[in-house]
Amino acid sequence: MASALPAFTPVEESLYLTLAGRALDSRAPNPVLGDTASAEIVRQIGYDLADFPMPSSKSFDIALRTKMLDDVVRGVVARHPDAVVLDLGAGLDPRSSRIDAPHTTDWYAIDFTEVIKVRRETMPTRPNEHGIAADLTDPHWLDEVPGDRPAVIVADGLVAFLADADFSALLNRLTSHFPSGEVAFNTYPKFAVWAIKHFRGTRSIADLVRNSGFDDPRDPERWDPDLELVEEIFATRMPEVAQTPLLTRVLSRLASRSAAVSRKGTAVLRYRF
Ligand SMILES: C[S@@+](CC[C@H](N)C(=O)[O-])C[C@H]1O[C@@H](n2cnc3c(N)ncnc32)[C@H](O)[C@@H]1O
Repeated sequence: MASALPAFTPVEESLYLTLAGRALDSRAPNPVLGDTASAEIVRQIGYDLADFPMPSSKSFDIALRTKMLDDVVRGVVARHPDAVVLDLGAGLDPRSSRIDAPHTTDWYAIDFTEVIKVRRETMPTRPNEHGIAADLTDPHWLDEVPGDRPAVIVADGLVAFLADADFSALLNRLTSHFPSGEVAFNTYPKFAVWAIKHFRGTRSIADLVRNSGFDDPRDPERWDPDLELVEEIFATRMPEVAQTPLLTRVLSRLASRSAAVSRKGTAVLRYRF
């Protein structure tokens, strides 16, 4: 008998897309992430990848975006082994198992209650790793996070689900809480938000998207003056593009010459504060 999947709300269910993308990537001949832990979580919760077919270009994109954010975390943790890592809207992403941060790092995965419950059931607990069951728009969840150390804060696939004002309030709360740190998240350009709402493949999350998207990477600096843009990380410029099919590779190489064009695809923004 097929096991019942966790009783997630529609917003929580969005985690299946990224989880499945990483699991599928782990089975590819040349995986980007090689995240077998995600494949194991898929198995444990009884999610059947065959029920939700995903083109390999999509799982490649998901895995690459995750790698871009992993690299940001690795960079900060290497410089600050005592850093606090926050994974906002962590879903069932076993990011800490990929990074293998030193035990002097404190790691916090924040998501809604049911998601944190399933994380606890499916992922081995690592020293100094904590799950916080909270709505990120609630100002109080940060009270339990130490605020006297540098932080690295990542959000993979989250921003689309936050209303513009909630996202900007969250950024301001985060930069006020820590003495210094970095924030990185994948972008949702205005066109991408429009596309999510109109394309068949993303119909399941169309009504859940609350962010209007933004095209100017300097916008977050205006919403939170403590933020300073450090880097735009474009998928088109990642070395992994070399392993994509010829047409994708050629188009990516052409797009990589222009930041304006690259911004329309998968990208991660990195800020310091
Ligand atoms: C697309 S999933 C990405 C999950 C994970 N970061 C990953 O890459 O697999 C978005 C996640 O954000 C969480 N989320 C959305 N809005 C949230 C909020 N207001 N508070 C906490 N979590 C939220 C959802 O529950 C979901 O797990």
